[in-house]
Amino acid sequence: MNKNWMDGKTVIITGASGGMGKGVAEKLIKEHGCTVIGIARSEEKMKKVVAELGDYKDKFTYKLFDVSVEKNWLEFADYLKENSIKPDILINNAGILPKFDRFQNYTVEYIEKAMNINFYSAVYSIHTLLPLLLESPSPAIINVDSSAALMTLAGTSVYSASKAALKSLSEALREELRGKCYVGIVCPGFTKTDIFRDQSASDAKGQKMLNMVSTSCERMVKMIMNDIKTKKPLGVHGFDAAFMNYFGRILPVQGGRLFSAVMKASKMPLFDPVFKD
Ligand SMILES: NC(=O)c1ccc[n+]([C@@H]2O[C@H](COP(=O)([O-])OP(=O)(O)OC[C@H]3O[C@@H](n4cnc5c(N)ncnc54)[C@H](OP(=O)(O)O)[C@@H]3O)[C@@H](O)[C@H]2O)c1
Repeated sequence: MNKNWMDGKTVIITGASGGMGKGVAEKLIKEHGCTVIGIARSEEKMKKVVAELGDYKDKFTYKLFDVSVEKNWLEFADYLKENSIKPDILINNAGILPKFDRFQNYTVEYIEKAMNINFYSAVYSIHTLLPLLLESPSPAIINVDSSAALMTLAGTSVYSASKAALKSLSEALREELRGKCYVGIVCPGFTKTDIFRDQSASDAKGQKMLNMVSTSCERMVKMIMNDIKTKKPLGVHGFDAAFMNYFGRILPVQGGRLFSAVMKASKMPLFDPVFKD
């Protein structure tokens, strides 16, 4: 095991029951000897994570709660204090991807739910846990954001807004906490995980296309781990994310129009709710 600043640290990671969160948790434990507290809602999925960890399972504990509720974070902080658990690293990774749709088709209730899971969860976790984290000799906060924060496409209003808010919060924290706490932002592009479960299941062409542009979960986890290892302030990963980062900066208005035109021309049923009149 090569020596790295995060070796042996105590890490809290949300969304550890599946996808990238599970992958990062496993690597932290197996490659860095970290003690990981995973947070998510499904006990069934968490039990699977524990079983898959095999001999490493003692390094992993989990808490089941909805990260979008502030009270849950306050209770979690009490649990940490009562058990003298001193976290070093917080990784805000849990998130949902709303179905591609026009803004007007989402209910306000659904928009609030998405903002609460994707953005307010990080507000609550950081607000609650920062004092504890700052007691660590090497505190860190890593927010798993998205390429959707780099450029907004038609059909992604709510997801992009939630991820843009997370990016802005992270950037402010990075400066406010400079020299005291590493704050990292990770912006993955499409990645093969279960996050697409709410998209049109019947759209085989769409799934094929998504698979073509998506990065494997394993590869994305490796890139995220490398960001954390090297304390990278911003990681943009996947060729789609690189495109969105580039065009979002050089063509802030026309870029979104260009990508929307490509989505529309693809005639994928996935995007029908956005483009079909
Ligand atoms: N996959 C992509 O293409 C992609 C691209 C860019 C950014 N991202 C971002 O990367 C992060 C991880 O995504 P993923 O692709 O790994 O997704 P995933 O496979 O769907 O996993 C999401 C994780 O979040 C947990 N979760 C969701 N809502 C929660 C809630 N309210 N409270 C507690 N836990 C909750 C889920 O656990 P339970 O179901 O057990 O609660 C699960 O462990 C997300 O923030 C996502 O926005 C993903």
